[in-house]
Amino acid sequence: RRSFLTGAVLAGGSLWAASSLWRPSFAAEARQLRIPELIDARDQGQSIALTAQVGKTSFFPGRESVTLGFNGSYLGPTLRVHRGDEVEVAVRNALGEDTTVHWHGLLIPGELDGGPHQTIRPGSTWRPVLPIRQPAATLWYHSHMHGRTGEQVYAGLAGLLIVSDDDERALGLPSEYGVDDLPLILQDRQFENGTLILPQGMMSTMHGRRGDTLMVNGTVNPVARVPRGLVRLRLVNGSNAREYDLAFADDRPFHWIASEGGLLEKPVELRSLRLAPGERAEILADFSDGRPATLETGPDGNLSMMMGMMRGAANLLGGNGREAVIQFEPQGKAALDSKVPERLLAHERPDVSKAVRRRRFVMNMGMGNMMRGGMGMLSINGRAFDMGRVDEQIRLGDTEIWEVTGEMMAHPFHIHGVHFEVLSRNGAAPGIRDQGLRDTVVAQEPVELLVKFTQTAVASPFMYHCHILEHEDNGMMGQFVVS
Ligand code: C2O
Ligand code: CU
Ligand code: CU
Repeated sequence: RRSFLTGAVLAGGSLWAASSLWRPSFAAEARQLRIPELIDARDQGQSIALTAQVGKTSFFPGRESVTLGFNGSYLGPTLRVHRGDEVEVAVRNALGEDTTVHWHGLLIPGELDGGPHQTIRPGSTWRPVLPIRQPAATLWYHSHMHGRTGEQVYAGLAGLLIVSDDDERALGLPSEYGVDDLPLILQDRQFENGTLILPQGMMSTMHGRRGDTLMVNGTVNPVARVPRGLVRLRLVNGSNAREYDLAFADDRPFHWIASEGGLLEKPVELRSLRLAPGERAEILADFSDGRPATLETGPDGNLSMMMGMMRGAANLLGGNGREAVIQFEPQGKAALDSKVPERLLAHERPDVSKAVRRRRFVMNMGMGNMMRGGMGMLSINGRAFDMGRVDEQIRLGDTEIWEVTGEMMAHPFHIHGVHFEVLSRNGAAPGIRDQGLRDTVVAQEPVELLVKFTQTAVASPFMYHCHILEHEDNGMMGQFVVS
């Protein structure tokens, strides 16, 4: 297999490189946060062109890395679509290898979903017409090429997808893209002398590809100028494996307003927020005091756990382990009406009394599994992913309870084609952060999910998988049909 990041492969040492022991050796000056271009489908006559391409990106001044992007060298434009519309996206593959584009969180039938069955060959164009029939939400799109998702997303094949609707617009939330409504795609990457490298090897498979350098929208050490007032942050965990534990350095509170499925019924005041790979959250941060603020993250719980398994290794993580994700510099005059709305939106919710069956899923990473070695060490219910095998058959319109558990570490479990609710976590009522409609949820101790299947998937099944991309690529995925 050819790697985009040729000649720069980090072998077995990646566990150590991924600890916070190594600060980036190539010091980064603070840089203005890059805001991906916004493409609004309504300005384009409901037809958007995306090209997956190879490019060169300077993450550090004077150092070029080979990367992948859509319509650019790294990541892709933010696509804004509107409820009620039908949007054609022409996705051209200008890469030297197969790819796919999956609309993560979009409620559309299986053949439009962009999963591993919708391969786009080099030089060809895929033209799904996406019916937008769901409430306003922050979604994202990314490569889902089987066995190559981790590497292609790591190299840059991802972007933001915003669904907008009248109900959301009527709330008057900050919505000036790039000004008071900021897309923040959080990623960690590994560099060597300022050049992006691809962690490889056993440990990268086991705990997922990680890096010692945080980036937002592909900007290392970013600063964002923001107005003095309420600012909406659309947080996307676009990392392959890293979980974030976000909080402001000065511990200021913020309001969580939207989960993966869209706006919550009312804002929730928080001081910290965990975000696992694939998860999104919209928050309102208040910069009306005019003081600069830094959003930080704590160490990844999974990595600390892994490190802790090696005797004495945990203390090498050192300090409180918090590091800056992005700095905000409020500018201008204080806004007059910086008020968080009291209510947001109530959505139609699945009804637990309608649940017709229960299925159990265990994301396997156990010793028994590892003993079998090779590709079989990661699986779901003991079976590694097989493109030719349908694992579950579901009736269209059914509501089910899915009970999901993860071995050895916290695994973000994602289901295509649905939004679900968390019914319970570890046998108890779900916590405040489990509320709202979601498409991805962290599971280690069992979580019960209430899932309603509203989209058909016959010839092209939907996926469910761990969103640690190296787990997904190496077998921790299954597929289901809905008819
Ligand atoms: Cu975000 Cu199946 O993926
Ligand atoms: Cu998805
Ligand atoms: Cu996993």
